[in-house]
Amino acid sequence: MKGIILAGGLGTRLHPLTRITNKHLLPVYDKPMIFYPIEMLVKAGVTEIMVVTGGSNAGDFLRLLGNGKEFGLKRLHYGYQEGEGGIADALNTAREFVGKDKMVVVLGDNMIERTIKKAVDSFRKQKKGAKIITKEVNNPKEYGVVEFKDNKVVGIIEKPKNPPSNMAVIGIYFYPPDVFEIIEKLKPSKRGELEITDVNNAYIRKNQMTYSVLDGWWMDAGETKDALLEAGVLVKRDGANKE
Ligand code: DAU
Repeated sequence: MKGIILAGGLGTRLHPLTRITNKHLLPVYDKPMIFYPIEMLVKAGVTEIMVVTGGSNAGDFLRLLGNGKEFGLKRLHYGYQEGEGGIADALNTAREFVGKDKMVVVLGDNMIERTIKKAVDSFRKQKKGAKIITKEVNNPKEYGVVEFKDNKVVGIIEKPKNPPSNMAVIGIYFYPPDVFEIIEKLKPSKRGELEITDVNNAYIRKNQMTYSVLDGWWMDAGETKDALLEAGVLVKRDGANKE
């Protein structure tokens, strides 16, 4: 299974913090943000990893992470997204790296308290389709939100005005290699991006989506300055990516 960490985008919501650097290089307690998704994958047994970044600070990722030795990796792969065409567009840059493998995709600003090893192992065994992880939140309007019918996922709505539930789709996604065929057919959304929610809805329509519910806390640390601060406080209190 391949691991892909998406760390492009401009992070304009965090200005002036991100005026001269990439959001994922900012500190969260005692480490740069990008360390957490790498550790998340390594601890879940995924060791073939590509970091996709973009913009003018891309070279700083190489200076910071090198070959990933401090994470116990032999090498780390890098991808470069031109522009900011959205999460699914960033994923598309990993197409050759992934080849015919399955993959777990992590948004570079997503942080969790407990390891995703169980979800990774269950997806290794899954015969068909994709998998998402959900978490109950009290501000669902900020995320992709799951709509359920009789305990089944029937759709995901991106940043809904009237959320159909309190269950957010967190930024950790599992796909088979045919995800790239779905991305090829996507059209940009109103905000001009290829949306990962459209990819997930394509699997839901085919009846090929499973989900699990996350244990422990989840933070979208790059969402706001308050979220960045809270993520640091939580990591100091509890640690991250724990067994
Ligand atoms: O955090 C979970 C949420 O992430 C989901 O609930 C939403 O469904 C999903 O759309 C996403 O929403 P955000 O609005 O938080 O996504 P954002 O634009 O902040 O991008 C998240 C990460 O994706 C960011 O840390 C870097 C990467 N990214 C994003 C864009 C737009 C890229 O690598 N390239 C891009 O072009």
